[in-house]
Amino acid sequence: MLHSASDTPGVSNIDFVIFPPRILAMQDTFRPPWFHRNIASEFMGLVHGAYDAKADGFVPGGASLHNCMTGHGPDAETFEKASTADISKPHVITDTMAFMFETRCVLRPTAQALASAQLQPDYHQCWQGLQKHFNPERP
Ligand SMILES: [Fe+2]
Repeated sequence: MLHSASDTPGVSNIDFVIFPPRILAMQDTFRPPWFHRNIASEFMGLVHGAYDAKADGFVPGGASLHNCMTGHGPDAETFEKASTADISKPHVITDTMAFMFETRCVLRPTAQALASAQLQPDYHQCWQGLQKHFNPERP
């Protein structure tokens, strides 16, 4: 991770981070990047392989932008797999390389980017079909 500090403690100008092959050693919990929104704007790209929060639709060479306070997280298929997976053993993620720029600035796509044939106007559909798995009776 590369970090550029700002004049505000706890808020970065911009951070750069990679998501290389790794081992998720936590047990008995949900493992993919969770649903969240935050002050930072997040621009992500996938260099090769697959990203663990998106089963489909995030291909090498692709990128995503979640601007300030835009909710995001794993797609419905990834959520379903992670919710029913064997979580008793570490999960080894191989063959992947993603990156992210995270900044306190709101990122404004260019007109060219918004007019691109590769733009996914139905991107939000990846969260349709999310099923509830919370059971307050389960310990
Ligand atoms: Fe995020």
